Amino acid sequence: MLQRELNIGKLKLQNALLLAPMEGYTDISFRGVCKELGADLVYTEFVSSEGLRRDVSRSSRKIIFREEERPVGIQIFGNDPQAMGEAARISSRLQPELLDLNFGCPVRKVAGKGSGAALMKTPDLLLEIAEAVIRSTDLPVTAKLRLGWDEDSINILEIAPELEKLGIAAITLHARTRAQKYSGNARWEWIRRLKDRVQVPVIGNGDVVTPQDALQMFAETGCDAVMIGRGATSYPWIFRDTRIFLNDGVVPPPPDLRERLELLLHHYRLSLTCKGEERGVREMRKLYSSYLRDYPYARQVRYQLVRMTDPKVIEEYLLQLLEEGLQRHVD
Ligand SMILES: Cc1cc2nc3c(=O)[nH]c(=O)nc-3n(C[C@H](O)[C@H](O)[C@H](O)COP(=O)(O)O)c2cc1C
Repeated sequence: MLQRELNIGKLKLQNALLLAPMEGYTDISFRGVCKELGADLVYTEFVSSEGLRRDVSRSSRKIIFREEERPVGIQIFGNDPQAMGEAARISSRLQPELLDLNFGCPVRKVAGKGSGAALMKTPDLLLEIAEAVIRSTDLPVTAKLRLGWDEDSINILEIAPELEKLGIAAITLHARTRAQKYSGNARWEWIRRLKDRVQVPVIGNGDVVTPQDALQMFAETGCDAVMIGRGATSYPWIFRDTRIFLNDGVVPPPPDLRERLELLLHHYRLSLTCKGEERGVREMRKLYSSYLRDYPYARQVRYQLVRMTDPKVIEEYLLQLLEEGLQRHVD
């Protein structure tokens, strides 16, 4: 049965396309851009529960979002039920639409300390954490998992029904094991199996990089929503394109250079407004290459941009690029 309708708490979305939580990317300005381009639900980067509990500024600022971004999910991680409960209480004060639990992160600084995907090796603790968080908030609580730790310990189909019993509101599955990290293909057949195993909404995730991929994931797995990560960092228009494709069956032409530069300028301004000049300028640097990708002189233009520190000079430079194209502006 094709679902293509996501119901979480008061949220009701058709053909839902979700921006995946991504550390280093899905900050306040990138979420804003994706939202404007058609993402139906956006998530913060993962936020450390210990960091929130101790009010570490890097963590505390990660949960801030703008009203325009709604609906928003705040994602938290950690391996201590008490700290996770406290992080849930702190995050809930901002009244996002949902809280999401990170049970899938493979990176060493998280999984190496028993959090993220490592919790799939200790299901009792994972469930204890979910229970503590669900008890600490009135908001819907969702969870994002992988298939399991490695090939010999795939346990998503055992853990998911237990989460459901505790009252989890939806489950996102990045259909790889922790051992796979990002290699090989995401194994969507497991999303189908999960869908058959639980009643709560299932959000499919992994390797959706084109509108056709999204349609195929809905069709093959029966998932309730599709979550897009890397496909959005390199091409945030994927939300616009996929929405149009799912509704009308056509993929719009890709943005031309002017449209790319306009969005880049908009993103730049949003970054400065939301983060202040210094951090706003610094954190834009990693994004220039994807906005200018495949255009002649892109490398040289990026080279200039990443060396500029004065926000006014950067703004002026971007306006000139818009006016005159890339090639006049490289030395
Ligand atoms: C740079 C980067 C950062 C990520 N950070 C997070 C994170 O903070 N929380 C999380 O649950 N997953 C994180 N992920 C995983 C993504 O949410 C997603 O599950 C994964 O990229 C697969 O989806 P995709 O093929 O659409 O990219 C991250 C992935 C990338 C590439």
